[in-house]
Amino acid sequence: MKIEGTIAAVRAQVKAWKKEGLSVGFVPTMGYLHEGHASLIKAARANNDRVAVSIFVNPMQFGPTEDLASYPRDLEKDAALCESLGVDLIFHPEPEEMYHEGFSSFVDMSVLTEELCGLSRPVHFRGVCTVVSKLFNIVQPDRAYFGQKDAQQLAIIKHMVDDLNMDIEIIGCPIIREEDGLAKSSRNTYLSAEERQVALILSRSIRLGQELCQQGETSAEVIVEKMKEFIGTEPMARIDYVKAVDGLTMQQIKEVKKPMLVAIAVYIGTTRLIDNFIWD
Ligand code: PAF
Repeated sequence: MKIEGTIAAVRAQVKAWKKEGLSVGFVPTMGYLHEGHASLIKAARANNDRVAVSIFVNPMQFGPTEDLASYPRDLEKDAALCESLGVDLIFHPEPEEMYHEGFSSFVDMSVLTEELCGLSRPVHFRGVCTVVSKLFNIVQPDRAYFGQKDAQQLAIIKHMVDDLNMDIEIIGCPIIREEDGLAKSSRNTYLSAEERQVALILSRSIRLGQELCQQGETSAEVIVEKMKEFIGTEPMARIDYVKAVDGLTMQQIKEVKKPMLVAIAVYIGTTRLIDNFIWD
């Protein structure tokens, strides 16, 4: 497995693979890898001749008051995991390699970015679309893998690839959870032992929403209200949003429809966690 820090080295490697007619699967990450990332890498490994992983904490997708500086990093551990999963190449650039002086081109999106995390984190998806476009241009993968935990991000990337005619297949992979239900996230590491217990309110409220759908509830507003009420019973949890949106356009809906995305963002102490389910 190679670890490269420059765009030129990644380009040279991918060019050599393509010359041999090999397919390339790509998993973009911000590092501090967990089993969620591992599931993406395994999917890439199973369906491509070569697998590339990027590890880059992208400053452009963090707002000024967000956790860019404290975002957890552990390249050594990440590299060991990648190696054990059969990754061929890690791209680990410095911010200056990705954003040279005078950088001034951005990829932005309307409609799909208006609700959910796009509303709470105004610069976030511009940063995500820009860096993912750059990474796609650098790695030139045949397939790229994203987790369903960031459901809005996945929908946006699929839409971007379609809008901008990028010849890349985007594959969404299911949410990976801890045994007690908490969705795996690099940010779970911020939680104290007490907060870790409290954080279960997220997956439990997701389960409540799913049960309501299964019981035939037709009002998306009722589902959202009941989930909010339930989260409200936990004094240490502060709701950022609980919303039901159209699964494709990410626009808020009043009645249950398929596909529907029910997504939540909740602060546990100062840690903002997200979770969701898709009703399809
Ligand atoms: O999901 C993430 O980890 C990031 O948003 C991504 C896609 C790697 C872009 O920085």
